[in-house]
Amino acid sequence: MANKRNWSEVDSYFARTLIGSDPALEEALAANAAAGLPSIDVSAPQGKLIHLLARMAGARKALEIGTLGGYSTIWLARALPDDGRLITLEVSPRHAEIARRNVAGAGLESKVEIRTGAALTTLPKLEAERLGPFDFVFVDADKTNNAAYLEWALRLSRPGTVIVVDNVVREGGVVEAASRDPDVVGVRRMFEAMAREPRLSATAIQTVGAKGWDGFALAVVS
Ligand SMILES: C[S@@+](CC[C@H](N)C(=O)[O-])C[C@H]1O[C@@H](n2cnc3c(N)ncnc32)[C@H](O)[C@@H]1O
Repeated sequence: MANKRNWSEVDSYFARTLIGSDPALEEALAANAAAGLPSIDVSAPQGKLIHLLARMAGARKALEIGTLGGYSTIWLARALPDDGRLITLEVSPRHAEIARRNVAGAGLESKVEIRTGAALTTLPKLEAERLGPFDFVFVDADKTNNAAYLEWALRLSRPGTVIVVDNVVREGGVVEAASRDPDVVGVRRMFEAMAREPRLSATAIQTVGAKGWDGFALAVVS
């Protein structure tokens, strides 16, 4: 019978079989745990999914909203060519500092720029500095602002940009229209904005695994 233990075992099997030992990523997770960061990074198979999606999109310039300790940042930066660039936004200076160390440990500091501050403050600066359009955007920060992050992802996009939003299922909470959970409300607002936006073709996929029952929204800009 399916349960969370099976989900974790299957994730471990996929990670062992298709990913294998990866010292930089393992050291990043160990450093995050040692620093007391919450274990809310993507799982290894999910990180590889983000990596593969960015490669499939041929991404050279990527934007991440929500860095934590840089685990997904490392996966995403590795998908970019040597002259590629990843800008990742993090509100917590402490998280950003740990992420900087982890990114440097993975040898990716030349490709990755970590900008500290609330994303709704740092995103307009990216536009003012004309750093877009980005080829790939990964949204994984505070869920309450997801609709605004989607809007910014669009402003900083071009036709063909891929947008991925994490944690959009919330153990099924996404279908609770009357929910007062601010994260559920934020995710539902994001889906409503996604559905209304004629430039986006989108879907969402539920996932189970070491991180429980959740999912990703995937969209491409036309
Ligand atoms: C789920 S974690 C990111 C996990 C990371 N993407 C990974 O998979 O390794 C969410 C991060 O977003 C950050 N965050 C929360 N609110 C934010 C905001 N307003 N602007 C930027 N970052 C924010 C949190 O501090 C946290 O580090």
